[in-house]
Amino acid sequence: NWTADSFVETTVAELKEKLGDDKVVLGLSGGVDSSVAAVLLHHAIGKNLYCIFVDNGLLRKGEYESVLDSYKHMGLNVRGIDAKQRFYDALAGLSDPEQKRKAIGRVFIEVFDDAAHEVQDVKWLGQGTIYPDVIESLSVKGPSATIKSHHNVGGLPDFMKLKVVEPLNTLFKDEVRRVGKSLHISDNILGRHPFPGPGLAIRILGEVTPEKVAILQEADAIFINNLRSAGVYDKVWQAGTIFLPVQSVGVMGDERTYEHVVSLRAVESVDGMTADWCHLPYDLLANISNEIINNVKGINRVVYDISSKPPATIEWE
Ligand code: XMP
Repeated sequence: NWTADSFVETTVAELKEKLGDDKVVLGLSGGVDSSVAAVLLHHAIGKNLYCIFVDNGLLRKGEYESVLDSYKHMGLNVRGIDAKQRFYDALAGLSDPEQKRKAIGRVFIEVFDDAAHEVQDVKWLGQGTIYPDVIESLSVKGPSATIKSHHNVGGLPDFMKLKVVEPLNTLFKDEVRRVGKSLHISDNILGRHPFPGPGLAIRILGEVTPEKVAILQEADAIFINNLRSAGVYDKVWQAGTIFLPVQSVGVMGDERTYEHVVSLRAVESVDGMTADWCHLPYDLLANISNEIINNVKGINRVVYDISSKPPATIEWE
C-alpha cells in the first residue's frame, strides 16, 4: 500500500545508509523530476548534495532566474551557471533536430563536468530519472527512442567516474508529484508543464539563433500567462510555442510586412505517449493571437496546432 509519506521516509533512510558522508552532484533542470530528486537527497545528506543549474539560453522567459531563486529558498546548495553563449555557439549552423539535440547534450555534459570537477571528492551523480525514462531507454526499438534520442537519459560520460543514484526510478510522474507535495515543494515547481531538455532549441524549427530565442520567449510568455489568467493552465498537460521557419506577408497600417509565424501548441495527455490537442476557447485564442502580434516585434501571424499524437508528436522536432 504505497503512500508518498512512506516512500519519503523509506527512501530518505535508504539514501542515508547508501551515501553515508559521500558527496553527490546533481543537475537541476527546473522540472519536477530533478527538483523532487534533489529535495529527497537534500533531506538525506544535506549540504553534501551539490546541485548545478545550467542556463543553456533555451529556457522560457525569466525561468532561469525565477527557478534558481525557488531552489535557493528551498535551502538547496545550488550553483547557477550561465552557459548561454556556449550553447548558442554549438548550435550555430545546425538545423537538423537530432544534431541540435546532440550538440546540446554534448555541451551540457561539458559544462556540467567542469562544474562537477570543482566539487572535491565527489562520488555520486544524482539523477531525477523516473520509471518511464528507464523503460524508454531500455526499449531501444521503441519508436520514441529511435525517433528522438532523449539526451537526459542514459549512460554518463566515461570521464565522469561517478556512481549513479536515482531515487525516483521506480515512480511514475503522478507519484513523483505526490512525493513532491509530501516534501512541501511549491506548486510553482510541481505544477509546471513538462519541458524538454533541449528546451526552445527544438521549438525553433531549423537553425537556432539568440534573436529567434528572444522572439519566441516573448510570444511563449504571452501564451502561458494567458493560459494561467484564464485558469486553464492546470487543465492543459503541456503547452508551448513553436517558431516556424517561414515568413508570411502581413499588413500594418499602410505598410506591407514580411515576418515570422508562430504556432501555439497545447495538448491533453496522461503520459505524453499519446495526446489530443486542447479545444481552447476561441476568445482565449483570439486574445493570445492579438497580444502576440501587437507586442512581439518580428511576428505577424499566429496559428494553432490541431494535430493529435499519433500520428503527430507533441513537439515539432
Ligand atoms: P513528443 O514530441 O515525442 O514528446 O511527442 C513527448 C514528450 O517528450 C518531450 N520531449 C523531450 N524531452 N528531451 C526531453 O527531455 C527531448 O529531446 C525531448 N523531445 C520531446 C516533449 O516535450 C513531450 O513532453
